[in-house]
Amino acid sequence: MLQKGWGSIFDHHLYNQPALYAVIGDPVVHSMSPDIHNASFKALGIKARYESIRISKENLLEGVRTLTDKGFKGFNVTIPHKVEMVQIVDEIDPLAKKIGAINTVGVENGKLIGYNTDGPGFLKGLQQFYKQDLLKANVLIIGAGGAARAIVMTLVSNGVSRLTVANRTIEKASNLFVNCEQKGQALTINEAEACLEQFDLIINTTPIGMEPNKDKMPILLENAKQKTYVCDIIYNPLQTNLLTKALEKGCHVQNGVPMFVYQAAMSFEYWTGRKPDLEKMTEIVNTRLLQK
Ligand code: ATR
Repeated sequence: MLQKGWGSIFDHHLYNQPALYAVIGDPVVHSMSPDIHNASFKALGIKARYESIRISKENLLEGVRTLTDKGFKGFNVTIPHKVEMVQIVDEIDPLAKKIGAINTVGVENGKLIGYNTDGPGFLKGLQQFYKQDLLKANVLIIGAGGAARAIVMTLVSNGVSRLTVANRTIEKASNLFVNCEQKGQALTINEAEACLEQFDLIINTTPIGMEPNKDKMPILLENAKQKTYVCDIIYNPLQTNLLTKALEKGCHVQNGVPMFVYQAAMSFEYWTGRKPDLEKMTEIVNTRLLQK
């Protein structure tokens, strides 16, 4: 356990310093998290500051110790530390444990508590716009990495039962269901393309659609039915090639902005107990990405 020393408590009360938060990762320089968290602190009158801090893979433990010594109250965790953080925290939320990755840490009485808001953030964003019954939906997830795992575990935990994972490496797609209470189907990308008409919801979790694979497609949509809901968790660019092609086919589309905003909002709520303005957060993200 990382004890908070008298010094930091004394300093905090005496000088009424802002509460400190951060996103740690490598790289973090382009993160939009400081923009949306700092705007939310300001809007709610919370005296706090959120910064991005680069911590390399080799220095993770030492870096986290420095943050707690300095009295940070919480931090987000991004690439490449989400899985390793599971070994560092004192307590882990059950869903984060199932996912095997942490993107949010709260420091409570010197103890580090790990959460995962990526999966639940994705689900909340989906529920805001997807108006069909998710429990009955036939869902295809493309990709089998960390993001896919967060989404699959969250969907299963929320009762979604018709799940297929398609991946370039099919073994990784099958592995996703190994420690999962709900079994699903694993397919190659070609196999999924051939039977695409059966899916109501298609979710891309691969990096295909952003630089340097901006012009590529994670899956070809020839056999998708009209009115299929196509989701990309990529938010930069705001409209990937996949979403452009899906719109041409008459599908409904959703980009990665809602997931990004909801995962941030859920972290913010864990730390402060307050609800940030989601519309304001969304506007900040969209404005920044449109300026590019
Ligand atoms: P994340 O944590 O963001 O999910 P990841 O764990 O590296 O990232 O997973 C990336 C996923 O995108 C993987 O499923 C990967 O496929 P493999 O399992 O076959 O490696 C997939 N992916 C990445 N680049 C790809 C490419 N150029 N073509 C096809 N699939 C790709």
